[in-house]
Amino acid sequence: MEKKDVRDVNITGKRVLMRVDFNVPLDEKLNITDDTRIRAAMPTIKYILEKDAKLVLMSHLGRPKAKPADEFRLTPVAKRLSELLKKQVPKLDDCIGPEVEKRVAEMKAGDVILLENVRFHPGEEENDEAFSKKLASLGEVFVNDAFGSCHRAHASVEGVTKYLPSVAGFLVEKEITYFEKVLKNPEKPFSLILGGAKVSDKIGVIKNMLKLADFLFIGGAMAYTFLKSRHIGVGASRVEEKKLKLAAKIFEDAAKEKTSIILPEDHIVADRIAEDANIQYIDDISIPEDMIGLDIGPKTVAKFKSILKDSKTIVWNGPLGFFELPPFSKGTAEIARFITTLDATTVIGGGDTAAAITQLGLEDKMSHISTGGGASLEYLEGKILPGIAALNDKKNSHRSVYA
Ligand code: 3PG
Repeated sequence: MEKKDVRDVNITGKRVLMRVDFNVPLDEKLNITDDTRIRAAMPTIKYILEKDAKLVLMSHLGRPKAKPADEFRLTPVAKRLSELLKKQVPKLDDCIGPEVEKRVAEMKAGDVILLENVRFHPGEEENDEAFSKKLASLGEVFVNDAFGSCHRAHASVEGVTKYLPSVAGFLVEKEITYFEKVLKNPEKPFSLILGGAKVSDKIGVIKNMLKLADFLFIGGAMAYTFLKSRHIGVGASRVEEKKLKLAAKIFEDAAKEKTSIILPEDHIVADRIAEDANIQYIDDISIPEDMIGLDIGPKTVAKFKSILKDSKTIVWNGPLGFFELPPFSKGTAEIARFITTLDATTVIGGGDTAAAITQLGLEDKMSHISTGGGASLEYLEGKILPGIAALNDKKNSHRSVYA
């Protein structure tokens, strides 16, 4: 059933409690190094304020141990939000309690406040009923625009929906639209590109997507586990020995589903993971002893491109090399630039892949870059995200989000 969104409820003049995912990266001086997630929530925030509502924002930041900790305060977020909105957004010292209730009661139409990190209370991750009720008492309508947190059945994501009319914000709505499109109705040929360090992080995605994808491209460190499972030399590359059998099984399953798996055929290697290491190009599928595979080579890039060029749907999760260091970022950069030139729906999983695309300045050239890391993986695994499932259904809707 399709989920209600913020246009489906009357919020004019009301107190709107909105969950956002402002879990942004901070440097050691607590400066925000990437504000994508804050900017991504702006369309919903602006829409709500145009309706003369009173907006109470709540988020987590990092993983504090269920108690206040200065490095996890939302103060830098309130500062950035004030800049983006060109108006002062006060950040309260807590997210529940008499002082918070007083400040919320004093709000006027068009005001915004940001509550303190919800994870300072144990009730958040425990999805505690009393804590959820206290949060819910701050609003008359609940809007979830925290796609990155929708896989968490936490109080501020799921618990509050039991006490308030609950709808999606525009960001959550956009994320659902793209994920549903690629999972339920992908235009073919469908290419799935997977990279990153570990096979174990992507097993669920592979299992769920083999039946959909025509091609599965594998890069990043996880490719070496797949190559080794085919008895190809991978030198000193990172390998998950315990996943070799599973990798071999994935080849069998792919054959049954008629999905072609495309692995690296040449490599950029080094004797250690550093920019000033002894870096070499290996024009061969197997990697010499003592060398570490750190990026796909030019032949592999050309091969990937020759297949990708006809794809109509491309889903990508995980960089294809050790992207953090420039000598090993070329494969990811070339494939990223190439897919922006195609007439295809391109959906990029959050986390490292989204960061790489942003670093390359290509964020406006993809159909959709997810703001969720874990959430996008769980969506692609076919799991039901509790934060979305808990939202109110649209009546007379024929579009299925969740059965
Ligand atoms: C994320 O960064 O993926 C989300 O903000 C969720 O954070 P969490 O993994 O700490 O729940």
